[in-house]
Amino acid sequence: MVRSIGLPKETKDGERRVALEPSAVASAVAAGFQVRVQTTAGIGAGFSDDEYKRVGAAIVDSAEEVWASDLVVKVKEPQDAEYKYFREGLILFDYLHLAAEPKLAAALQASGVEAFAFETLTYPHGLPLLAPMSEIAGRAAAIVGAYYLASGSGTLLGGAAGVQPARVVVVGLGVAGTMAARGARGMDAEVTGVDIDLHRLYQAHMEGTVTSTLASSDSAIAEAVAGADLVVGAALVTGAKAPHLVKKEHIASMRPGSVVVDLAIDQGGCIETSQPTSLSHPTFVESGVIHYCVTNVPGQYPRTASRALSAAVAPRLLDLARDASSPRIEGALNISHGKIVHPAVAKALAE
Ligand SMILES: NC(=O)c1ccc[n+]([C@@H]2O[C@H](COP(=O)([O-])OP(=O)(O)OC[C@H]3O[C@@H](n4cnc5c(N)ncnc54)[C@H](O)[C@@H]3O)[C@@H](O)[C@H]2O)c1
Repeated sequence: MVRSIGLPKETKDGERRVALEPSAVASAVAAGFQVRVQTTAGIGAGFSDDEYKRVGAAIVDSAEEVWASDLVVKVKEPQDAEYKYFREGLILFDYLHLAAEPKLAAALQASGVEAFAFETLTYPHGLPLLAPMSEIAGRAAAIVGAYYLASGSGTLLGGAAGVQPARVVVVGLGVAGTMAARGARGMDAEVTGVDIDLHRLYQAHMEGTVTSTLASSDSAIAEAVAGADLVVGAALVTGAKAPHLVKKEHIASMRPGSVVVDLAIDQGGCIETSQPTSLSHPTFVESGVIHYCVTNVPGQYPRTASRALSAAVAPRLLDLARDASSPRIEGALNISHGKIVHPAVAKALAE
């Protein structure tokens, strides 16, 4: 039975989000839970210890005291230094992305943590705890893509009178891809959206989110990427390792100084040449192409991102704390009693 909920300060590089804003903590306190907040956990998002204290949270000094709670809710997957807090029966609720984190999966299994992932929760439909961060990461992709194109090939997304606009290819037109496409269109780039789901392409086409659409295939992607200034990777198969849709040879065919932003990197990346990068060291160059593969893009917009995440997480947190088998947290359970129980995650980790 859950009596206490812990809210630690995030430890991932550059991460300034917090999983619950004070109003969400107020709801948990009103529901009868003791909420322990690690001191300064909300500071990066502009929430002071006093604001949490005023709504009834206990402010504690150490991560150890927070992790001693029955349920720990946080933003990013636990970092190596946090594995020591794992213990049998602890309920963990956060982004896990285990398909790309086999070491974390093994540590959670070995310690007997009940691990629930935001990104695989499907109630009531879609991916309601992934969507708010995908929305922010998608918008950010257009901004950082435009920024790195300046220092790369020196191309301005919108072009100029007498000069063609830049060509942007977005692979995966879900939540993140759609927002990236909108951002790039908003800067007057020419945007091609690629998806395997024809209905999504139809919607984007009808709404004018993109200038053209392409049904996903190796040859279509090869052709589109060869002429692109900016490629955004945003394809997802829930729980699975991201498919390598953009191949090494496609990247090699791009103009030197072009840019790729692989948002799907948290699931391993949908661009073959991608490697995870951090907010402190966001890019590397491969085949002359600038790669931006940050695994926590929304962490650089902590105020907006924390409020959006908290609004989505708060009701599901109460459902989970009251009843870990609630249908309202369907799809979230990844590891239970040492076993990987989410089929797509289990398949990805077995490969
Ligand atoms: N790096 C970050 O900080 C960050 C932040 C938020 C989200 N993300 C990631 O962005 C990715 C996209 O998330 P989302 O919420 O937009 O997912 P989504 O489910 O809304 O969209 C995924 C899209 O990919 C498409 N797709 C699947 N297979 C495809 C294929 N073979 N070819 C073309 N398209 C294909 C799907 O049809 C769908 O439209 C995820 O990996 C998510 O974790 C990353």
